[in-house]
Amino acid sequence: MSNRTFTMIKPDATANGHTGAILAIINAAGFRIVALKMLHLSAEKAGEFYAVHKERPFYGELVEFMSRGPISAAILEKENAVADFRTLIGATNPAQAAEGTVRKLYATSIGENAVHGSDSDENAAIEGDFFFSKLEQF
Ligand code: CMP
Repeated sequence: MSNRTFTMIKPDATANGHTGAILAIINAAGFRIVALKMLHLSAEKAGEFYAVHKERPFYGELVEFMSRGPISAAILEKENAVADFRTLIGATNPAQAAEGTVRKLYATSIGENAVHGSDSDENAAIEGDFFFSKLEQF
């Protein structure tokens, strides 16, 4: 069990002005932000990040969406970070997300679902390193 996870506040939530509210929920749940940046992914970089989904029918839509506008990327620290963060954000499909979760509050669809959260300790490390050099991880 690692104590770090990786998240992105996606273009939908950014465009709707929810960045600050989502960061506040993350902090209030006991996560410490140990890396943070706002950036606009190119389609190429979005495709690289989500390469694991390349064969899925929604891959093209996902890449288009994730490169549509700015995102905030962050590394978060807390005991049991990966599992606790996935509980905090709720199910991928907001229709199935529990009350009070970030996706229940801010996601609009299964594709445009406001936030990303790593699904394993291994992927958390890979995803964090995708966005942040070691000098940018505190
Ligand atoms: P995320 O947790 O970032 O990981 C993969 C993303 O693919 C997911 O959030 C959604 O944004 C997107 N996704 C997953 N399933 C679907 C789907 N059925 N249709 C469209 N997009 C999807």
